Amino acid sequence: MIHTLFFSATDTTRRTVMELAARMGGDVSQHDITPARVQDINIDEPSDIVIIGMPVYAGRIPSLAAERLKRVRGNGQAAIAVCVYGNRHYDDALVELCDIATAQGFRPIAAGAFIAEHCIFPEVARSRPDSPDTGKIELFARLCRDRIDGKSTFEPRSVNGNRPYRKPGGVPIHPKARRSLCVECGVCAGECPAGAIDPAHPYLTDNAKCISCCRCIKVCHRDARKFRGLLYRLAGRKFVKANSRRREPEWF
Ligand SMILES: Cc1cc2nc3c(=O)[nH]c(=O)nc-3n(C[C@H](O)[C@H](O)[C@H](O)COP(=O)(O)O)c2cc1C
Repeated sequence: MIHTLFFSATDTTRRTVMELAARMGGDVSQHDITPARVQDINIDEPSDIVIIGMPVYAGRIPSLAAERLKRVRGNGQAAIAVCVYGNRHYDDALVELCDIATAQGFRPIAAGAFIAEHCIFPEVARSRPDSPDTGKIELFARLCRDRIDGKSTFEPRSVNGNRPYRKPGGVPIHPKARRSLCVECGVCAGECPAGAIDPAHPYLTDNAKCISCCRCIKVCHRDARKFRGLLYRLAGRKFVKANSRRREPEWF
């Protein structure tokens, strides 16, 4: 059995790990730790394989997701660490994910960094993962299979990234709802991984809790939620210019 375990606010991390699981073959069980109501998860069978997928936020694993991962317990299973990032860089996220996986009782055998559309600035890496990315996932799946079969070994020190990790950081911009478009259906409040949206007044966001993950933008049927304002537009222009060159997946 392959277990996929992921935090994925805008679905690209989930899609990446599910593609990898499909390419590896066998039965797959999904554990989604994105919702705020996530509970403890124990994965008991030592011969199972676990794929842990995390998005990169400011060069790290989102701290909320790292907290949720601490509620997952493994039993020495072979684990594949996967980071998904928006074409800027993954910095220390992949080493951090390998470290967390080990601390939670898994045995990392491979680690990969894959690219997806940037959820805050979707002009960057637009529509990725695309078909060349799928081809790379297929190659990575083969490497993972070889590692499981003992044909090659994982060198944890080869994983790109630094310890100590870079300082965690949030982004100073948050999605806002347009009151005239909001029908107060509450879908965004129910789906927000951080519990930052008041279900009674879903057009309001608690910016102190909001992690800017963009899930509310994605799930709003009315297109009421967006990043707005001058700071977003200026930051976007600069970001797109600096990060438009296509980066390719890497693995270790
Ligand atoms: C708060 C925040 C910070 C981010 N920081 C980075 C980053 O440091 N490097 C990068 O390349 N992409 C960054 N991204 C983009 C995400 O890693 C990317 O969109 C990823 O595909 C999101 O995964 P998901 O679709 O599973 O939510 C950031 C996104 C958010 C919301």
